Amino acid sequence: MANSLFRRTSIPAMQATAAKGSALSKELGAFDLTMLGIGAIIGTGIFVLTGTGALTAGPALTISFIIAALACFFAALSYAEFASTVPVSGSVYTYTYATLGEFIAFIIGWDLILEYLLAVSAVSVGWSGYFQSLLGGFGINLPTALSAAPGAVQGATTYFNLPAFLIIMLITFLLSIGVKESKRVNNVMVVIKVSVVLLFIAVAVTYVKPVNWQPFTPFGFDGVFAAAALVFFAFIGFDAVASAAEETKNPKRDLPRGIIFSLLICTLLYVIVSAIMTGVVPFAQFAQAVDHPISLVLQLSGQNWVAGLVDLGAILGMTTVMLVMLYGQTRVMFAMSRDGLMPKIFSKVNLKTHTPLRATWIFGIIAGLLGGLIRLDELAKLVNIGTLSAFILVSVAVIVLRVKQPDLPRAFRCPAVPFIPILAILFCGFLIFQLGQATIIRFIIWLLIGVVIYFVYSRKNSNLNPDKK
Ligand code: ALA
Repeated sequence: MANSLFRRTSIPAMQATAAKGSALSKELGAFDLTMLGIGAIIGTGIFVLTGTGALTAGPALTISFIIAALACFFAALSYAEFASTVPVSGSVYTYTYATLGEFIAFIIGWDLILEYLLAVSAVSVGWSGYFQSLLGGFGINLPTALSAAPGAVQGATTYFNLPAFLIIMLITFLLSIGVKESKRVNNVMVVIKVSVVLLFIAVAVTYVKPVNWQPFTPFGFDGVFAAAALVFFAFIGFDAVASAAEETKNPKRDLPRGIIFSLLICTLLYVIVSAIMTGVVPFAQFAQAVDHPISLVLQLSGQNWVAGLVDLGAILGMTTVMLVMLYGQTRVMFAMSRDGLMPKIFSKVNLKTHTPLRATWIFGIIAGLLGGLIRLDELAKLVNIGTLSAFILVSVAVIVLRVKQPDLPRAFRCPAVPFIPILAILFCGFLIFQLGQATIIRFIIWLLIGVVIYFVYSRKNSNLNPDKK
């Protein structure tokens, strides 16, 4: 049994499976991947969570962003090495299968479900808030009962977040009709949301009063670290680029580029945006509008017209995040299913659309229901812990692979191994402990459910099981 837990796929065999053609079409280049990355990264984190972030860290929110970015950057270098070495669908799940063995790979895949699926749900809740505020601007208000998840609004009875559910249904439809269409929609939306962020920077910078940056750390470093663990959410998504390996024309060259470019661009934008936000508005005032802090800054500067545009851009921005996350989710499941660890239905590619059509709809509906029923902060913290754990495992895997297969050709090599991966492990581990006990316990329960599924289903049905019928 111990052997079966550590059985591994071989990297050449995996490359052969991918080369045989999985019926997924190969369409993406470095530029598309960077767009896919930015599409996944800029969203609820910068548009919504910065409000709570500023209240937690004060003007030192910029430092929180830098800490979270460093954790991601160190992990990204490991991701890039793997993505360039094992360019097959399934991201970090696939990499761990080749290095740390089946059981850990299963757990990481299970972990990624928490990341991608719940991220879609979390972002849909942020989207719904901006959407309702935009509708409110036209005097249209939804019935309260259908405007938020149960318990999300104090003093009101709410049952279901209908806009959150419906936007996920729309995204699911887009993905189900094919990657080409989704890619175009994604590229247009990314351009719009980056323009909106740049517009914010250009307009708001003229209202900065350096006095607002004093005191810089009103809640000490505890506040800075707690905010870092929260705004970490804002960086999630660059790893989804790696999930697109099988649909990339030249994965060895383009995957590392896509991951690193998208992360660098977003970090720069976040640091500038958070410095400007806290420079224009005294941080305590973000309590007034914790769901739309970016537009609050513009409103308080008397730039209502620009604020409206930013609202619209935020809505589009969050739409692309959901698109890429749901895409990543279906592709991880696709890989697990192809390996026999999950039921075959998840790797069935529809011949007409060239997408895993049924899997896309199954996950779309689940994500939609969760978005309708669970609060944003609860979802976001679970997403963060799932992602941080995945980052730790991929960093471990890079070190293991360097020792076990030192001569394997790698188009991109993470610099200073093992120091960079160890830094990633330390940063991510530290952020996990900032998320609080309740989140850690929920995460452990999720993992235990995964362990049961592995032993009841996956171990027997694995393609690597010699007794499989
Ligand atoms: N990074 C993504 C966002 O902030 C998940 O919405």
